[in-house]
Amino acid sequence: MKPGARARLAILISGRGSNLQAFIDACAGGVLNADICVVISNNPAAAGLERAAAAGIATCCIDHRSFASRDAFDTALAAEVSRRQADLVILAGFMRILTPAFITPFSGRLLNVHPSLLPRYPGLHTHQRALDAGDPEAGVTVHFVTLELDGGPPIIQARVPVLPGDTAQTLAARVIEKEHLIYPLAAQWHISGRLQLTDTGAYLDGEPIPATGIDYQENAH
Ligand code: GRF
Repeated sequence: MKPGARARLAILISGRGSNLQAFIDACAGGVLNADICVVISNNPAAAGLERAAAAGIATCCIDHRSFASRDAFDTALAAEVSRRQADLVILAGFMRILTPAFITPFSGRLLNVHPSLLPRYPGLHTHQRALDAGDPEAGVTVHFVTLELDGGPPIIQARVPVLPGDTAQTLAARVIEKEHLIYPLAAQWHISGRLQLTDTGAYLDGEPIPATGIDYQENAH
């Protein structure tokens, strides 16, 4: 990418697409020096496809059910992202486990948002698990994607309190507001060349990022 050029983002979704909407708004509002070159869904019914189309963004559905194996699906997905010449790949509620066929070619430029304070609660049902454990706080992590599920180096985390009477739904609603703030921020760090993934972990401005990511509350302004 040429210095100062607008980055090309490929955004992968499976559902509602509220994080996608945060990226659409961040690109339009100048928070992100980027354009979304394609939104890809594995789910033909994903509501996020309509958000993308309404914003005039190219969409593509690659239905995983049409493929004989995960590997074949991931190879087709990788071909589509490459064809669109994406600089950065954003997983935004993309609910398929990816294999090396996809992860390896995009290593270092593949980000995910996960609704927990990783390393706590990789996988599903994060909010209910935080409630069941009696955690006083919950949150969200943006991380690099590696071959370990929800295990790649964290970039940034935002925390929210767990309040009396919270359900998984009320907690999720509090957390997702933070997702929409920190995910475009991490992407902007990447496209401005501030963020790197190396064999020894994630770096921001050449400094190692702490194991649980940059704390949004304190440092991200
Ligand atoms: C978000 O909570 C995200 O963290 C998780 O899936 C949800 C997607 O929501 N991976 P949306 O489709 O972006 O609204």
